[in-house]
Order: sequence, then structure tokens, then C-alpha cells
Amino acid sequence: MSYKAEYERSMNDPEGFWKEKAAALKWFKNPENILSQDEHGIYHWFADGEMNTAYMALDYHVEQGRGDQLAIIYDSPVTDTKTQYTYAQLRDEVAKAAGMLKELGVEKGDRVIIYMPMIPEAVISMLAVARLGAIHSVVFGGFAAPELAVRIEDAQPKVMISASCGVEIKRVIEYKPLLDKAIALSSHKPQSCIIFQRPQATSTLIEGRDHDWNELYAKAEPADCVPVKGTDPLYILYTSGTTGKPKGVVRENGGHAVAMNYSMQAIYNVDKGDVFWAASDVGWVVGHSYIVYAPLLRGCTTIVFEGKPIMTPDAGAFWRICEEYKVKTLFTAPTAFRAIKKEDSEGAFFGKYDLSNLVAIFSAGERLDPPTQEWLMEKSGKPVIDHWWQTETGWGITANLQGIEPMPVKLGSSTVPTPGFNVKILDDAGRELSANEQGYIALKLPLPPSCLATVWGDVEKFKDSYLSSFPGYYASGDGGYIDEDGYVFVMGRVDDVINVAGHRLSTGEMEEVVGGHPSVAECAVVARDDDLKGQIPMGLVVLKSGVEADEAELGKELVQLIRSSIGAIACYKDTYIVKRLPKTRSGKILRKSMRQMVNGQPYAVPSTIDDPGIMPEIEALLKEKGVIG
Ligand code: COA
Ligand code: AMP
Repeated sequence: MSYKAEYERSMNDPEGFWKEKAAALKWFKNPENILSQDEHGIYHWFADGEMNTAYMALDYHVEQGRGDQLAIIYDSPVTDTKTQYTYAQLRDEVAKAAGMLKELGVEKGDRVIIYMPMIPEAVISMLAVARLGAIHSVVFGGFAAPELAVRIEDAQPKVMISASCGVEIKRVIEYKPLLDKAIALSSHKPQSCIIFQRPQATSTLIEGRDHDWNELYAKAEPADCVPVKGTDPLYILYTSGTTGKPKGVVRENGGHAVAMNYSMQAIYNVDKGDVFWAASDVGWVVGHSYIVYAPLLRGCTTIVFEGKPIMTPDAGAFWRICEEYKVKTLFTAPTAFRAIKKEDSEGAFFGKYDLSNLVAIFSAGERLDPPTQEWLMEKSGKPVIDHWWQTETGWGITANLQGIEPMPVKLGSSTVPTPGFNVKILDDAGRELSANEQGYIALKLPLPPSCLATVWGDVEKFKDSYLSSFPGYYASGDGGYIDEDGYVFVMGRVDDVINVAGHRLSTGEMEEVVGGHPSVAECAVVARDDDLKGQIPMGLVVLKSGVEADEAELGKELVQLIRSSIGAIACYKDTYIVKRLPKTRSGKILRKSMRQMVNGQPYAVPSTIDDPGIMPEIEALLKEKGVIG
């Protein structure tokens, strides 16, 4: 099959194309209404299909005789634990976990927040919620209590599931106090919490609200799969936007299952029985899609890895896993490869393990920088494939489709649009640009299955955030260009979203925290390029008049504030006190110009700047402090 033929069919006959892809799954009632629009004009896929995602991912495989095949391999170097679940075992565990949720009153459409480390119970919880037709919202364990509180407030969960602790390289992080604090901060209170007690730190349960996972589980009756419509939500996943408040991306059951299953064949070229490993976290979209749902829908074996690319115990951790479990496809973020490269630049660890089962390595989360890509290709001897995607889409918008027609790799490009995605480069006025011209990357509507259906509880926010900049298009928030061969080059965000170690964060949100410090009058948080983490945030602050503060001392306080408000993953470290910030005459802070400046690039200053003297003043100060050369 050629890429061109497959792609063109997806463009010319989207309904026929996706109906055919939907038929690869086991629905309770096959969809006939393939693509429809609601009263807000928003597109939906498979509205009249009836299904259950957990059924498709587990029960169906057991019914097909694959019950003894491995579904999950859990490998945790930080706790020295390894466990495995067959499809039959996982289905039974999920059915019982669904039973305990049912016992607590969870029904179709109810929300359940899952705040857990990378343990099998996190995956079991997600599938158990899906089994009941309820909606999960997984919150990454590295987020601090106020971040969790915002999500509780917005999603209004009936039940929350958490663990007593997470285990990081250097320390055990107790989750329960964070959970309690978040619930205290939120005006919405869940009816019940289920806590999975881990031996590294057990927690005290609150009478009447909290339940011990093991106790509930022991008493639970297995629950059946609840049929849902293709358009019923499967999950909400919050992601950082340009404002302080994260957006709840809503994913619908039908489109999600179809796109996940198709992507496993088309993009990754994996099939039933293959071992697929996404080294990420279930708290991120990569974890939702490619640790949990896609591998299981496809009948693969997935790996739940509670460790890091380095230090658990060394830079050979990934290759050890690939050898031990015969991994066919590895997928992670560039930062992980950069971390390995830093520790093992000669690639000594590659030679210590048998990587003969590994066919390809995939990367996403940020642009795979050409030096890292070249290094990894050379040391591993495998194709290293960058693909571009977002929480909003849930799967690759552009990719090098290994199951359709592998294409030559062009360094720095995430290759070509995936079937279903009509990728265009637009200028400010929404006019389509020609090959090699850089502009805004937009996706012509309708988006293919699995892309966000709305922002939870706020369809206007969905329209404002994504659909209003360019009518008829979804604005991706990324900039880039398409070359003369149709290869897409994604060059970075055009808004204030930054990517720290593959974690998407909002500088606006950090500014709210920094601006909340009693000494700070105003501030700008901008991203600085970082060799390991891609980008890290840096604060430029103006003190309130009359306030005298020591820069280092203030910096330390702001680090603590960001850690306790957003989380250590923000990696906020550097603060510089400046006299003034550059602004337009209408008062808008010139963040883009400052970002260019702190990264040593020539900076553009708009003609609307209020006082052109401020930028050189800050530049001189940062040069003096050695921040820029
Ligand atoms: N729960 C609680 N805290 C967490 C956490 C979690 N799940 N994950 C990370 N943190 C904390 C870390 O302990 C660390 O805290 P510290 O500053 O007190 O040491 C901080 O957040 C930063 O963590 P991290 O970004 O993991 O940095 P690191 O320096 O410990 O490790 C890498 C560097 C490159 C190894 C690591 O960033 C990595 O593995 N990246 C891959 C990211 C990834 O898979 N992204 C998914 C997108 S596909
Ligand atoms: P997230 O929603 O956390 O997955 O982050 C999505 C953002 O990460 C995108 O909008 C891009 O800015 C960036 N991104 C993800 N993958 C890539 C890639 N392969 N190339 C360039 N940028 C990427």
C-alpha cells in the first residue's frame, strides 16, 4: 500500500475510510452515523455506535483465545519489583476494580480522578472506570496539590483513586498529604477516595471518606462492561494552555478506540503479541494512548516502567528492558535520549544488550533535535522516527508510517501528515503559505477520530482556544513549514506554552505564582533552551516600589513557591530582578522578544513598544550576570 493512496483516500472519503477502520474493532452495535456535527457545529465520530473501550481492550481478546498472552509487564527498578498480567488476569482484575467503584456508587458518566505513580493499579483503575462507562481524569503524580485541586474543581469527581506514595530516584514522595491538601483547597469534595497502600510509605485514612484498595478489592464483585455511545467521553486529560487554568481535553470512546487501533498498524507497524513500550507516564497523553489503550486494543503486550532512563541504575536501563522483554517498538521523549547520551556518549550500553527484537525507536513530546537523532541512529543501528502530536489529538498528526510505507528520514522533520490530518501552514490572515514558508500550523476541519471533542464543561473555551483564530481550521499552537516533498517541520510553539523534559507547562501559570510573591510587582517567565530538558523556565521580576530584596534569596523563595504550587517537574531555578519589563503601548509584555534575547538570538521588537530602551537595559544586565554571552 502506498502512503499517497492511503492519505488521499482519508481526505477524499473520510467517512468510508474511517468506517472501514472502525470495522477492525468489536462493537456491540456497529456505527452507521460515521461523522456528524452537533448544535455547536462541532464534529463527532461514530455517534450511534455502541461499545465499551475496556471490553475491546481486554474481554474481546480473551474471547478470541488470547487470555494467556501477556497484557502488562510491570518493571520497577526503583522498588525492585517485576510483575506480569495475562489478558485474562488483567480482565479479571479490572472487572473487580470496576466492582469496587460500582460499590462506591460510580455510574456511567461519573468522573473519577486517578492520581497515581507508575504502577499496574494505575492502568487497572483507568480501565475499570472505562468498564463502567464512567470518565477518568488522570493527574500526573508530579503535580503539586494546587494543580490537583484545580482539576478536582473542574472535573467534579465522585471518587478519587490514589496511592500512598510514589518512588523517585532520590526520595519517596507521599501522595496522600498532597491528595488531602488538594481536596481541602477545592470547593468540590469527592464522596470517596480509594488509597493503594505501598510499603515504602503507608498513609492514614480519613474515616468515612477513604478506603483501603486491598480491603475494598477483597470484597468486590466483578462488574460487567457498561455499553456507551461512540461519542460518550472516555476521559478528560488536563493540559496547559496559555492562561493559568489548564484545559480539560475531552476524548470520546469511539473515535479514540478506532484511531488508537489504526495507529498501531499504520504508524508503528505492530500487531497482536508484539511487545510495545512507551517509556512515559500514565499522567501524560503518551501514557494514556500508548502505555494503556492502543497496545491493549491492538492485543500487544505493554510495559509499565517505574524508573528513569538513567540512574535506575544506569544509562543502560532502556536497553536492559528491550532485551529482557523482547521489545519490538520503543517510544519516548527526546529528553530521555539526551539524558542517556549525556551519560553514555560512546554508546557502550547498547553493546551490552541484545537489541535484535527492537525494530524501531519513536520519539515525540518535543522536536527531536538532529544531533540526538543522528547519535541514536548510529549507536542503536535502528530507524529513529520523530512524530508530532499533542494532548489534544491523542495520536501522531505527522509521522513516518512504518505500517503503510516507510519513508526516508529527514533530520528535524516529523515526516508527513498521518491519514486523516489535513495539515496546512497559514499566515496571520489565515492564507495558505507555499512550500518552505514558515507560518502557523493549522489542521483543516474535520479533525480525524480521537481528537478532542470539546474542553470539559466549556464549549466556548474550546472554540475560543482552538477554532476561532482561523475559521474552518484547528489552530495547533505550533509554528513550522512544509517542504517541497511534503515533509512537515515543527519548529516550536507560537504561544506561551513551554516543554520541560517533554512536560507541557504554561509560563502564564508560572507567572501567576511568581506574581503572587509579596515582593513582586510584575514578572515575565520565559523559556530558556536547555541541553537536557529542551526548555527550562526563567523568571524576570520587577519588585514592588520601596521593596528591597536579595536576588538569590528571592530566587530560592520562588523556587519553593513553584514547587509547592505547580510541582518540581517545572524545574524553575533562575530569577533575575529587573527594573522594568518591555511592553507594548497597550501594556502587553513582550515575552517573545525576551525569549529570543535570553537564548542569544537576535530579538525582534514590535513598533508598538512603549519604551525601546528597556530591552537593551535588560540585555546588558543579563550579560553582566553571565546569563547570555
Ligand atoms: N511524582 C513526583 N515527583 C516527580 C515525578 C512524579 N511522578 N516525576 C518527576 N518528579 C520530580 C523529580 O523527583 C524531580 O524532583 P527534584 O527536583 O526534587 O529532584 C523533578 O520532578 C524533576 O524531575 P524530572 O523532570 O524527571 O528530572 P530529573 O532531573 O529527575 O530527570 C530525566 C531527568 C531526563 C531523566 C527525566 O526528565 C526523564 O526521564 N524524562 C523523560 C520524560 C518523559 O518521559 N516525558 C513524557 C512525555 S512523552
Ligand atoms: P503535549 O500536549 O504535552 O503532548 O505537548 C504538545 C506539544 O509538544 C506540541 O504542541 C509541540 O509543541 C510539542 N511537540 C510534541 N511532539 C513534537 C515533535 N515531534 N516535534 C515538535 N514538537 C513536538
